[in-house]
Amino acid sequence: MHDLRSDGAGYMTQLFGEKNRNGLTRDLIEALFPMFEEASAGAIAVDRDARITWINHSYSQLLGLNDPSDAIGHPVKKVIPHTRMPEVVETGKPLLLDIMEHQQQQLVVTRLPYYDDNGDIVGAIAFVLYDDLQPLTPLVSKYRRLHQDLAAARKALAKKVRGTRYSLGDFVGASPAALEVKRRARLAAGREMPVLLLGETGTGKEVLAQAIHSVSGRADKPFVGVNVAAIPDNLLEAEFFGVAPGAYTGADRRTREGKFQLANGGTLFLDEVGDMPLSLQAKLLRALQEGEIEPLGSNKVTPVDVRVIAATSRNLEAMIAEGSFRSDLYYRLNVLEIPIPPLRERMADLGVLCEALLEEICLGLELRGEINDAGVSALGSYDWPGNIRELRNVLERALTMSEEGGVLDADAIFRVLPRNGSRPLAIQAPRSVRPLAQTIANAEAQAIEEALVATRGNRSRAAKLLGISRSVLYEKLAKMS
Ligand SMILES: Nc1ncnc2c1ncn2[C@@H]1O[C@H](COP(=O)(O)OP(=O)(O)OP(=O)(O)O)[C@@H](O)[C@H]1O
Ligand SMILES: [Mg+2]
Repeated sequence: MHDLRSDGAGYMTQLFGEKNRNGLTRDLIEALFPMFEEASAGAIAVDRDARITWINHSYSQLLGLNDPSDAIGHPVKKVIPHTRMPEVVETGKPLLLDIMEHQQQQLVVTRLPYYDDNGDIVGAIAFVLYDDLQPLTPLVSKYRRLHQDLAAARKALAKKVRGTRYSLGDFVGASPAALEVKRRARLAAGREMPVLLLGETGTGKEVLAQAIHSVSGRADKPFVGVNVAAIPDNLLEAEFFGVAPGAYTGADRRTREGKFQLANGGTLFLDEVGDMPLSLQAKLLRALQEGEIEPLGSNKVTPVDVRVIAATSRNLEAMIAEGSFRSDLYYRLNVLEIPIPPLRERMADLGVLCEALLEEICLGLELRGEINDAGVSALGSYDWPGNIRELRNVLERALTMSEEGGVLDADAIFRVLPRNGSRPLAIQAPRSVRPLAQTIANAEAQAIEEALVATRGNRSRAAKLLGISRSVLYEKLAKMS
């Protein structure tokens, strides 16, 4: 057997010829070639017609050839079916890094063309850098992690710029009802008119409001949300219209901007608009009609340019009939109405929703969340008074209680699915001892959820059941989501 080093270097001399000896380049190649040849798991060369002209010992062993010289003169494709050396000879372009399958082995290879003095292609050389992917695993997983981080950072940045967390793609669903919602949302995005979103709790009103903003012409302007129900009535006016300096005696002598000013140029999302006291309804109507506001304690009006998206889970028409909502404000807000169907009316979306929600739940956790068809069917047996928020919580609970890495099946779902509105607490798996604060927080979250389910998402009634004020309930809900 030849000495492989001199064999390879000798082959290079043959390739380049004495007259090509041109100082450094030649020396470098001569110095590098044996190193590559030895460090790699194999080396091979072909001529202009992609026929093998040389192959070293380690590559013949790797390929399982009895006698390397048998391979000489044969088309390289015959000996290595998945090689791309003919392509390199054809195009003159190196393939610096590639993974090649050979008899169920994955080889990491590099392929380089080489030229004669006139710049014509003479052939190509290839090295097998690694004969399995193991050494590359840390590199590949690091790359994947960096790539994920980058994608997450880009997404977060884009949302920060928009001021929104959601875009239209986040409203998951392909049922006719969901598509109709999206169609209207796109229509709304293309125009400047006020939009009224109507839907039960947890149907995605917030998601949709942000999505409309983020595909509208105001996308690069602020999106400001204000939840009317979460703010005590006596503070609402200041929250909406701001406070002029010196309006109050005492500490707060500075100007405080209201939501209208903050949203100037962009979108103002009036959440739970049905919870607005009548006195403020009149002021809101005036602001919308005139396009100007009067901060508290100021006698000057300020022009504002906002696009209003309002949302409510209440029946505004019934409220008008009983005199608790102004009809003129209703018509002002309800130029384009988007009813968002409850989940029970779009069960066809359960599957895709589960996929999207599980992915979201597992994001950033070292968890894999999957559900099978039987699991999805099990979810279909329930009527979802808490809609998608409740679905998310059920999936989260099922995942917590199932074995790590398992797929959620019907059993896993039935174990956590509320039946007839009451949770099967008795059959919950024994839980490990946790810090008291966490146990209390969990119990509180569960009580709130149960109250919301019992009242079909009516927060005022839920707050009453729980014996807390509506704004405290909102505070707690905000912490939970
Ligand atoms: N179509 C949807 N696709 C994916 N996720 C959704 C969808 N709709 C809602 N969600 C998710 O469900 C949860 C509740 O959504 P959101 O807060 O928008 O509902 P809401 O109608 O504003 O509820 P509420 O009346 O209680 O304020 C969020 O976690 C949201 O991401
Ligand atoms: Mg909401």
